[in-house]
Amino acid sequence: MKKPILVVASQFPKEIEDRIDRDYDPRRNPNTVPFSREQLLAADGVDAIFVTLLDRLDSNFFQRVSPTVRIIATYSVGYDHIDLKAAARKKISVAYTPGVNHEATADIAMLLLLGASRRAYEAQELVRTGAWRPLSPNMLLGWQVGGKVLGIFGMGKVGQAMARRARGFGMKIHYSNGSKLPPNLEEDATYHEDPHELLRVSQFLSLHAPETPETHHFLNAKSIGLLPPGAVVVNTARGGLVADEDLIAALRSGQVAAAGLDVFEGEPQIHPGYLGLKNTFLLPHVGSATVETRVAMGMLALDNIDSVLAGRPAPTLIAQ
Ligand code: DGY
Repeated sequence: MKKPILVVASQFPKEIEDRIDRDYDPRRNPNTVPFSREQLLAADGVDAIFVTLLDRLDSNFFQRVSPTVRIIATYSVGYDHIDLKAAARKKISVAYTPGVNHEATADIAMLLLLGASRRAYEAQELVRTGAWRPLSPNMLLGWQVGGKVLGIFGMGKVGQAMARRARGFGMKIHYSNGSKLPPNLEEDATYHEDPHELLRVSQFLSLHAPETPETHHFLNAKSIGLLPPGAVVVNTARGGLVADEDLIAALRSGQVAAAGLDVFEGEPQIHPGYLGLKNTFLLPHVGSATVETRVAMGMLALDNIDSVLAGRPAPTLIAQ
């Protein structure tokens, strides 16, 4: 029987690639580099496309995409890179991978929080460059997390998983979210309907909201000014939540003591200002990068593709 044609935009873990080879007629880039936009659009008679968050699927993409495409699955829980209205106009279903990456991403958020507040970048540099000298009591003093307020902006699954970890470190949880959580999920956390009120108390701030027109550059000179002096900022959500110039200025002046960042606006390009700062702890968008999570994301994406192509309800379509 003829297998459906699937355009595979990137390289995925082996289990995923094996399932693709078994169930589909895949169109891949033989050069183990991700497909370019033109390559994504080039294949004929395609039934489905499997993309990552690096593929910008805007209205122009949907004007040109093959009319045979029935579903696009993104290997991400975020879908700010896809024009959903344009997809709906072409009657193309769009699926994402919610509910599987929150534990891994919260691990990285905690790593960033600790790395930034305990000056891990400077400490690593000292050891690796041979600049380490006998212990001085003033060497690399950081900021204790226990007993401090952690403000969580966006209390979905990742925010809640971050709260669970931070409670274990003795932090007091405050949060802001589209709506107040029910008591069983909120536990002892304090809700702030107005995110600006959250900022005023956040000695540590961790961003976990999706990027939307409303949250774009949520952290800017004005909102940074509301944080307690010397706050520590963590971002594992989307780079576009932060106005880079403003955060860099605040890190330079010490208004923000340190930042731990896994995501950047325009990544993999990164604002060069961050690189020159010792009070940054920087990672290359590895929030979901564990074997377990990345395999689960791929399996869920393929479950969606299978379902739509078989005319069954798909597990995690994005409402359009
Ligand atoms: C997501 O799922 O949106 C993450 O940012 C990438 O794994």
